[in-house]
Amino acid sequence: MEKIILTGDRPTGRLHLGHYVGSLRRRVELQNSGEFDKIFIMIADAQALTDNADNPEKVRQNITQVALDYLSAGLDPAKCNIFIQSMVPELTEFTFYYMNLVTVQRVQRNPTVKQEIQMRGFNDDAEENANKKGTPVGFFCYPISQAADITAFKATTVPVGEDQAPMIEQCREIVHKFNTTYAPVLVTPDILLPDSQACMRLPGTDGKAKMSKSLGNCIYLSDSAEEVWAKVKGMYTDPGHLQVSDPGKVEGNCVFTYLDAFCRPEHFEKFRSAFIGRKVSFEFNSLDEVKAQYRAGGLGDMMIKTFLNCILNDILDPIRARRAELEKDIPAVWEILRKGTEAAQAAAAQTLREVKQAMRIDYFNDADLIAGK
Ligand code: TRP
Repeated sequence: MEKIILTGDRPTGRLHLGHYVGSLRRRVELQNSGEFDKIFIMIADAQALTDNADNPEKVRQNITQVALDYLSAGLDPAKCNIFIQSMVPELTEFTFYYMNLVTVQRVQRNPTVKQEIQMRGFNDDAEENANKKGTPVGFFCYPISQAADITAFKATTVPVGEDQAPMIEQCREIVHKFNTTYAPVLVTPDILLPDSQACMRLPGTDGKAKMSKSLGNCIYLSDSAEEVWAKVKGMYTDPGHLQVSDPGKVEGNCVFTYLDAFCRPEHFEKFRSAFIGRKVSFEFNSLDEVKAQYRAGGLGDMMIKTFLNCILNDILDPIRARRAELEKDIPAVWEILRKGTEAAQAAAAQTLREVKQAMRIDYFNDADLIAGK
């Protein structure tokens, strides 16, 4: 069986470091591993509209931004199809048929849906209370639409963050239901989670659970070196670590969480020079040594922030350079999207034909039906 990847992002803003460690970096590795027969990366504009119906302009503008983030992070249009969800209308058709294979109660139990409804302040009593808003039906159904996205491409592998696990689970159930009700046409996908806890859920720079646009605690892939340093300087550490000599806490200290996610062994040698001229030098050779010194006392927050800043810029510099090149020719970026979308549309149309055949609703190709049998 072919190995096929499908994954994507909602274009509601530029992508940040949370996206990078949680999925983008992995996608680029998977792309370059040569292990996959096909890779589809979707800009989920239709899904973004499920809770942004009043602001399609935001979604529209961010399609270009997300495409730029993808390409500058290293996704290569020669190796993967980057496409726009709404430009593959077949996906909507799959969704409409899958809706009949899932109950309202099952969607209501989906933990991600529950959590997102709460986060967005969609209330049960909105009908009686004019100040509250209810849940858009389209938003409620997005797990089903996501199952359409995955199955339309017969994806075997879905690299996503852990918050998406209930979506993949629900997709697997839909596949099972479809295949046992009609015919075994659909492929059961596997989730591929990030490989470490720090990458699973990168906290915001304020130490809050998640990097999120609305909380204003993100470092964006497109931030300048100055913006990154301002944000790193302001990062939440250990509020009890007042003097350099005080023992500090590593757990819950987001500078260390970021170091866990981004630091590699070669960074110690590479960035020692950044500390030349300081009162203390940076003589560490591993993250464990840094942590031990911080815990014992005698290591200041500015030291660890400087180190982190060097590492982040090391990662972001080549991304920024590629973005600057790509930004000079936006029509070329859209040409990449057009080609990727054409390939995606052809693949989805093929699966849709098989699905309709399995359901026996491809009437005009049904010789028996037409012959009156
Ligand atoms: N829900 C994903 C997100 O929040 C985006 C998405 C839409 C997706 N369809 C998908 C991810 C299918 C993986 C597979 O970013």
